[in-house]
Amino acid sequence: MANQKRALITGISGQDGSYLSELLLEKGYEVHGIVRRVAIEDPQHRLSRIHHLLGRIHLHAASLESYPSLMKVVAAVQPEEVYHLAAQSYVGYSFEDEFSTFETNVNGTHYLLSACRDVVPHARFYFAGSSEMFGSAPAPQNEQTAFRPRSAYGISKVAGYHLTRNYREAYKLHASCGMLYNHESPRRGMEFVTRKITSLAAQIKLGLATEIRLGNPEAKRDWGHAREYVEAMWRMLQQETPDDYVIATGETHSVREFLECAFGLLDLDPYKYLVLDERFIRPAEVDVLLGDTSKARQHLGWSSQTAFRDLVRDMVESDLKLYSHCETREIQAATAVRETLPGLQPVIAKR
Ligand code: GDD
Repeated sequence: MANQKRALITGISGQDGSYLSELLLEKGYEVHGIVRRVAIEDPQHRLSRIHHLLGRIHLHAASLESYPSLMKVVAAVQPEEVYHLAAQSYVGYSFEDEFSTFETNVNGTHYLLSACRDVVPHARFYFAGSSEMFGSAPAPQNEQTAFRPRSAYGISKVAGYHLTRNYREAYKLHASCGMLYNHESPRRGMEFVTRKITSLAAQIKLGLATEIRLGNPEAKRDWGHAREYVEAMWRMLQQETPDDYVIATGETHSVREFLECAFGLLDLDPYKYLVLDERFIRPAEVDVLLGDTSKARQHLGWSSQTAFRDLVRDMVESDLKLYSHCETREIQAATAVRETLPGLQPVIAKR
């Protein structure tokens, strides 16, 4: 198609990248994505979330740590819209390796902004900010709330936010920042607490696991459905003027509530299986996140639609299906990895 819009997505193989690709393809975009070279060499595992899209999207190998590699892709694709989703996105891991979190999240964002300014200054740019930027700020948080990040991850996102804003003001880039609260789905990585809970609930139900080890069950998060959140990203780039938006549900629930809901849906009593494990407790915790989305509602016409219980159900049902088809040996390997590397849970590929 001659006037087909071209979009470039970093982090295309992640949860959000996969939903965003689907949305943009539906809207008739030519979709390009950046992945690490290792992902192309091992598509079965590393591209599992976008397997069904291969052939309809264009993948390019580059790394956020390398400015020339990003520059080359931006120049080759000449995108009209750039969605910068790639990051070291696991807060827990950022306490173990602050330096690589900064390298990837701060310099990676800076390199990409700089490449866009130099090569495609008219492209519209989306930066994946985070509610972790608010950290210990009192709830509810909105676009005016002062940032009080509590982790290297949160600090790196604050830096990315300021870089994005500075490119908007100094170089007139159409650059927006979405301050997205936690957003989950059956495609969520196994290291995040929601997916850890739903995958273990399913395994326990099927007799494939006997316990679930968690850190702080009292932390509260504003959890929405990732499929809806990518729509908000797209809407931001359709606005005449770039801006920053809080994207959330406006409801907050504790990890404990999520646990009770997920196990309850499978008629399981979570307290028969729950083990509190201090390895999962963070040196500094963000206690309550709750977003005020008045601005997004007003300017973008966006609001979250999926109720908390429906989100949990979607994930539980999907994991029940996934693990019903899993080989015991695959689960044993996954469990062994989980026990040696508490932060990192392996992904079991979807069939
Ligand atoms: N991961 C994990 N594992 N978290 C646990 C566990 C556990 O065993 N036990 C309790 N938690 C608590 C964490 O301490 C945290 O308070 C909460 O569960 C949620 O943790 P995560 O699911 O890892 O997500 P997050 O809130 O730290 O970060 C996610 O949301 C951000 C937006 O608010 C990530 O997606 C970030 O990339 C994103 O920016």
